[in-house]
Amino acid sequence: MSEKATLTYSGKSYEFPVQVGSENELGMDISQLRAQTGLITLDEGYANTGSCDSKITYIDGERGILRYRGYTIEELVEYSSFTETAYLLIFGELPTPIQLQEFHELLTRHQFIHENMRHHFQGFPASAPPMAILSAMINTAGCFQPELVQPADESSFMETAAILMSKVRTIAAASYKTSIGEPIVYPRFDLNYTANFLHMMFCMPNKTCHPEPEIVRALDQIFILHADHEQNCSTSTVRMVGSSQANLYASAAAGICALWGPLHGGANVAVIKMLERIHEDGQPLDQFIEGVKRHDAGVRLMGFGHRVYKNYDPRAKFIKKTCHTVLNKLGIHDPLLELAVKLEEVAVKDPYFVERKLYPNVDFYSGIILRAIGIPVDMFTVMFAIGRMPGWIANWREVHTGSQLKIYRPRQIYSGSLLRSYEAIEKRK
Ligand code: SDX
Repeated sequence: MSEKATLTYSGKSYEFPVQVGSENELGMDISQLRAQTGLITLDEGYANTGSCDSKITYIDGERGILRYRGYTIEELVEYSSFTETAYLLIFGELPTPIQLQEFHELLTRHQFIHENMRHHFQGFPASAPPMAILSAMINTAGCFQPELVQPADESSFMETAAILMSKVRTIAAASYKTSIGEPIVYPRFDLNYTANFLHMMFCMPNKTCHPEPEIVRALDQIFILHADHEQNCSTSTVRMVGSSQANLYASAAAGICALWGPLHGGANVAVIKMLERIHEDGQPLDQFIEGVKRHDAGVRLMGFGHRVYKNYDPRAKFIKKTCHTVLNKLGIHDPLLELAVKLEEVAVKDPYFVERKLYPNVDFYSGIILRAIGIPVDMFTVMFAIGRMPGWIANWREVHTGSQLKIYRPRQIYSGSLLRSYEAIEKRK
């Protein structure tokens, strides 16, 4: 703790300690505010409120910095793999060769889903939203691991983490195959995490396919970029649910539901639908931008803006570059990429966006790569969930390994009806 913050209210002064983070972020500790002053704080959307002290991810929104456990996203996406980055996020250190091998063995051991789970996919309508299926099936997976639902110690926690990370991709691929009427493809023991996912998504039981190494690497890097992002909506949801001592499967399933929203992880779907609409209507970009600035009903520049980044999202920079690599490798000319690049060029010069510090975020270009790889649009947010799973697991663990597990229970200001008595229905007009 360093200096104190002083609050003066109705003629009295109160002091509150200020906590200083390892990157010199300052947080006023108001844990005694109500007891001392009778006041609570109000902060719609928690834009100014820290919910926790965390050691996992650091973001500097003004300078466009993102680090996982102190390592920059630029170095991790360049030199690491998704499974190694997941280990780093969850356990706090880059793994030794033996530790990584053990983690890979756990991921491989748990890559199948219980055969009885296959029948659950038949129960969903073909039009069922993949995020609804994913959330339901993550909870279902917990029913088949009752001994691990509430990990009691470090080794069972590591196994539970590996189960969730491994099965989330098997469930995603199985739900896709079921939705298109193709047989579910079993994972292989000889493929790495991401290659195995692409194998389960696009191969057939009677046809072995070999995902292009460049495509596997690009998708693995996309998963790295999505792996964590401090207290975003879905991660805060996982912490909130986990704080009640709900198990890791239930907490991750809740995180999936929060991520689904178009203002959060659902934005990658909304971006593609926005670009397709502009392209098909042949709408001039300046007209579209004017509609955005007028706040025309339902018109937002999806994939732009961020609660924390008031500068270019470092993830978007990398994904934009990878778009060109992947499309060139696949020999694809996607007019939506050109449209997105032009839209960015127009927006970043427009005072409306400049004044509000609105830049492309992680979702602006990611859908173009996923589309090129052949991922259906309604599964884009599922891809975000696969990437974010280690961040959710790491945050759930941090809530549970804190000195004292405190249930998250915010206060409120009530502005509803004053006291009134019940009236029999006969008397109500
Ligand atoms: C993710 O939190 C995370 O870390 C999330 C994430 C992660 O990794 O977990 O980074 C992933 O969710 C990225 C964001 C994806 N969502 C979108 O791309 C949807 C479009 N973006 C916006 O809806 C918005 O920018 C948010 C939701 C991302 C942030 O919302 P805020 O911080 O609550 O900002 P706001 O809505 O209060 O906007 C401030 C101003 C407003 O203008 P005024 O009303 O003051 O005139 O900026 C405007 C907004 O209208 N604005 C936009 C805009 N985003 C903000 N105007 C047009 N288009 C936009 N996209």
